[in-house]
Amino acid sequence: MTDRLALTPLTVDDADGMVAVYADERMYTYTGGTPPTADELRQRYDRLVGGWNHDRSEQWCNWIVRVSGRSEPIGAMQATIADDLAWASVAWEIAVGHQGNRYASEAARAIVDWLMVAGVARITAAVHPDHRASANVARMAGLSPTSELDDGEVVWER
Ligand SMILES: CC(C)(COP(=O)(O)OP(=O)(O)OC[C@H]1O[C@@H](n2cnc3c(N)ncnc32)[C@H](O)[C@@H]1OP(=O)(O)O)[C@@H](O)C(=O)NCCC(=O)NCCS
Repeated sequence: MTDRLALTPLTVDDADGMVAVYADERMYTYTGGTPPTADELRQRYDRLVGGWNHDRSEQWCNWIVRVSGRSEPIGAMQATIADDLAWASVAWEIAVGHQGNRYASEAARAIVDWLMVAGVARITAAVHPDHRASANVARMAGLSPTSELDDGEVVWER
C-alpha cells in the first residue's frame, strides 16, 4: 500500500484484468513483445505464482497495481530476488492510459524500500538507454545509473 496505490501479490485470476493493461502496442516500445491473450497470460501467471526458478536460487515476487479503492488493475511490479539476498532486480509496467501520474515511481519506491528493509545488498533495474520515463522511475526509486550494460540496457543500482 502506498499513498495512492494498492499492491497485491499476483494471482492467476489477475490475468483477465491484466489483458487490458497489456493490450496497447506502446507498452512494448522499449522492451519488445506483443499483447498476450488471456490464455497466454494465465499460463504465464501460473508459472510466476510458483514463486521460484527451477533450482530455487531466485525468488519471483510480482504485484498487481491498482488505484486504492478501485478494482481494475493498472499495472504490475516485479522483483527477482537472489535466495541469499545478495541482489534483486526490479521492473515496472503501468498501462498507457494511466501513465504520467507518477504511479510507477510511487510503486517502485515502495518495492525498493521493502527490499532494502529485507536486507537485499544490491538492487538493480535494466533500463533501455532511450527510455526516459523508466530512467526517471529508477531515479525516483533511489537507483543510479552505472556504466554496466545488460543486453544493451543500462544497469541502474542502489
Ligand atoms: C516506464 C513506465 C512504467 C512509467 O510509468 P509511469 O507511471 O508513467 O511513470 P511515472 O508517472 O512515475 O513517471 C516517471 C517520470 O517519467 C516521466 N515521464 C513519463 N512519461 C514520459 C515520457 N513518455 N517521456 C519522458 N518522460 C516521461 C514523468 O514525467 C516522470 O518524471 P518526473 O517525475 O520528473 O515528472 C511506463 O511508461 C510503462 O509501463 N512502459 C511500458 C513498460 C516498460 O517499458 N517498462 C519498463 C521496463 S523496466
